[in-house]
Amino acid sequence: MDFKNEAASRLHALLSKDGAELSEILSAIETPPDPAMGDYAYPCFKLAKIMRKSPAAIAEEISRKIPPDAVISKVAAAGAYVNFFVDKTLFARAVLSRVAEEGADYGKSAVNAGQTIVMDYSSPNIAKPFHVGHIPTTVVGAALYKIFRFTGADVIGINHLGDWGTQFGKLIVAYKRYGSRAEVDEGGVTELMRLYVKFHEEAEKEPAMDEEARAWLVKMQNGDEEALSLWRWFNDISLAEYKEKTYKRLGIDFDYYTGESFYNDKMADVADELSEKGLLKESGGARIVDLEEFNMPPCLILRSDGGTLYPTRDIAAAFYRKKTYNFDKCLYLTCMDQSLHFAQWFKVVGLMGYDWAKDLEHVPLGMIAFEEGKLSTRKGRVILLNDLLDDAVRKTLGIINEKNPGLINKEETAEAVGVGAVVFANLYNGRARDVCFSWERALSFEGESGPYVQYTHARARSILRKSGAAAGDIDYSRLSDAESIEVISCLAEFPERIEAAAREREPFLVSRHLVNLCQSFNKFYNKHIVLTEEAEIRKARTALVGAVSVVLKTGLTLLGIKAPEEM
Ligand code: ARG
Repeated sequence: MDFKNEAASRLHALLSKDGAELSEILSAIETPPDPAMGDYAYPCFKLAKIMRKSPAAIAEEISRKIPPDAVISKVAAAGAYVNFFVDKTLFARAVLSRVAEEGADYGKSAVNAGQTIVMDYSSPNIAKPFHVGHIPTTVVGAALYKIFRFTGADVIGINHLGDWGTQFGKLIVAYKRYGSRAEVDEGGVTELMRLYVKFHEEAEKEPAMDEEARAWLVKMQNGDEEALSLWRWFNDISLAEYKEKTYKRLGIDFDYYTGESFYNDKMADVADELSEKGLLKESGGARIVDLEEFNMPPCLILRSDGGTLYPTRDIAAAFYRKKTYNFDKCLYLTCMDQSLHFAQWFKVVGLMGYDWAKDLEHVPLGMIAFEEGKLSTRKGRVILLNDLLDDAVRKTLGIINEKNPGLINKEETAEAVGVGAVVFANLYNGRARDVCFSWERALSFEGESGPYVQYTHARARSILRKSGAAAGDIDYSRLSDAESIEVISCLAEFPERIEAAAREREPFLVSRHLVNLCQSFNKFYNKHIVLTEEAEIRKARTALVGAVSVVLKTGLTLLGIKAPEEM
């Protein structure tokens, strides 16, 4: 039963003669800040204009004309609002029985059914370190991927790896001068990084090395077998390591790992088409699309040496994706400083005459920063994502050893909680805001953190293990106290939150809601005894705890975080 609908339909019966639409009424209905004021509130400001009466007088009149019934137990005016009170027993039954019935599917919807959404996220640059700068796109992307699926969309996750470009020329030079096959096999990405750094150090003293690197890049572009086989080898090593060490740990996989090199043979067509359509201009030897009319700098298509560029690859990739997946939306998750890049080439696709340019969407993200002094950057070196996860797990193990030394599966739990803490900390604010990472906040078992949500879930599970399942009929009238109702309201709002998160591309609408639910639940738990001798109360409260554990687990799963049974 949808109580908001119930309230809306009663209003509609009264107001339709004045031309009010049900959908309008529905979207006008608000949730009062204090549940004592009612469960739903309908503001009368708009009606005041039509009816030429004060909003308060209208609210008064409406509330008099809607009699209480089995579902809506009370209707009362408060200032300009008509407040609806739903029958608490009915409300508790409707919500809790639905959660029990649907289980892990509670919150699933079909709002995006029939939509094909391509998501381009994570996309690290190969042979460069997978550093913490790629956390936001990786974890926000993974969460949105799951959230879109949960709302019925067909989602295609693509890792647009930076697997082609000048860095490979440099790497080949460094490898030939300072490396060996055995060392690269042994050291993996760490060794590739060492070589990459070494190149830069040496090239400062010997600028000719840059020329050498450029020559290798040209060889790669011309299909030279030695250059290509080294390139392929570096790629294979890096990708295998990202998958094994990073993505697997985060529980992430992609539908396609089609990086920039995948479009090598699809770029000439882009340049040709642009030129046929008269959009290509020459500028200092390079080819560009002029965007002055749109107040943007030109979009670079071909370098003066004929080499192609980042935007060109993106345009080729967009054509390929449109042709292959026929997407309704194609999303690109990167930090905000790439906004102009996307605006430019989206415009170019539009100028080429493709109306689906409107379906290309940049989803800008903030950056991650670390509290001064709390995390050493080891002088000039970047923080690797994997090292950060290792640190988180080590610290978590320390906390567990202190709080719950007897826990079995300690290592496994520390991994789930440590990794979850890092993920959650990156999903707790609007995605465009910078994340200021602090260990204290991220790892707190009491604050607004991943461990807090996981801990609350584990606590609920532990109560359930003690009390056993709530079998037989449940007397929902036992849950009419304020704390229980607050928990139930949170549970009831969960599906809406997920839809909003999908619509706004904002996983934090889910993470914040989970924290709210935990806070309400802990308030309930501190005030009421679940494992009481009174069988009916015990059964009803157990049903409530069961529903909380289900929703917390679903929410965590959507965010890409595990929900351990014990902590
Ligand atoms: N590799 C790029 C970077 O690390 C991100 C790629 C984003 N996707 C895209 N289609 N441009 O900055």
